[in-house]
Amino acid sequence: MLQQLEALYSQAQTDITSITSQDALQNWEGKYIGRKGEMTTLLRSVGQLPREERAAFGKRANEIKAALEELFTARETLIRQQELAKSLEEGEIDVTLPGRPTPVGGLHPANQTLREIYGIWADMGFQVFRTREVEDDETNFELLNIPEHHPARDMWDTFHTTTPGVILRTHTSPGQIHAMRHFAPGPIRVILPGMCYRYEQISSRKEIQFNQVEGLAVGRNIRLSDLKGTITAFAHRMLGENQKVRFRGSYFPFTEPSMEVDVECILCEGKGCSVCKYTGWLEIAGCGMVHPTVLRNGGYDPAIYSGFAFGMGPERITMLKHDIKDIRYFWGNDLRFLEQF
Ligand code: FA5
Repeated sequence: MLQQLEALYSQAQTDITSITSQDALQNWEGKYIGRKGEMTTLLRSVGQLPREERAAFGKRANEIKAALEELFTARETLIRQQELAKSLEEGEIDVTLPGRPTPVGGLHPANQTLREIYGIWADMGFQVFRTREVEDDETNFELLNIPEHHPARDMWDTFHTTTPGVILRTHTSPGQIHAMRHFAPGPIRVILPGMCYRYEQISSRKEIQFNQVEGLAVGRNIRLSDLKGTITAFAHRMLGENQKVRFRGSYFPFTEPSMEVDVECILCEGKGCSVCKYTGWLEIAGCGMVHPTVLRNGGYDPAIYSGFAFGMGPERITMLKHDIKDIRYFWGNDLRFLEQF
């Protein structure tokens, strides 16, 4: 039986040298050292030997079993390494290729313009004062000198909520009331940026949702010339030192007198083109001296204090700067548009 054991050992050693796959190695294990393997069976038959031979046989058999187990582990490691090397060589992963880039977002063009606007007004001493987008009818209209049923309400088509008297602000002008009530009777120099909503027909120049930047200065001896000077300085910083600016008489219920601010058409330089509707001028803001009633509603005595206000549309200014033909691109979520900025 000892001879049989040695023969089995040498056979197992020979067999394992030609094994190159995990499957074949499993078979080898089953054949020799598995639960029903030849080695195991031989070990179990130790009882058939004469008593004096049993110890020597058992000792040798255990040595051989341990040696075979070691052989198995070594071969298993070798096969794994070979398989790994092979799959790396044949596999689809090329670790030397550059990684996939993570897409990086950018600031929306409207926000880029907003930040530019903030910077220019900050240099002139105006701080940002944010107020609510969901307003009450009183602040959006009445306190701005637009009573109910006044025909001027038609200038602002309104989104109403299901709560009576609660609306989406149609302009940033109600912020004037909030700012005045916050600072009264102190001096004010603020800009009030943010989203406005109007229930109107969407077109290449009109959206139902757009930004406005309101400006408000209140104090003693604030005059129309201060308004014209600051707005002109703004237009020069925003659009270029040589930009021509003009003020044209207009009407807003909350300012008196009221004006529109026009800049010479950037595209045709005043010659007349389709963008400026052949007038040579483009409107960038509405403005005026704060109406005495509005000053009073904000907590300022119009006999002592005066002020100016303006309201401009950053999307329209961005369109002028970059020759964008349609305002609908701003909220269209089209990366081909957004990636250009
Ligand atoms: C107003 O809303 C006044 N509150 C502005 C004002 C403020 C006047 C303070 C005097 C004193 P207007 O409706 O013209 O005015 O809007 C001002 C600017 O907002 C416009 O010049 C335009 O740039 C922008 N705007 C208005 N409606 C839209 C719209 N539907 N889509 C995009 N931009 C718009």
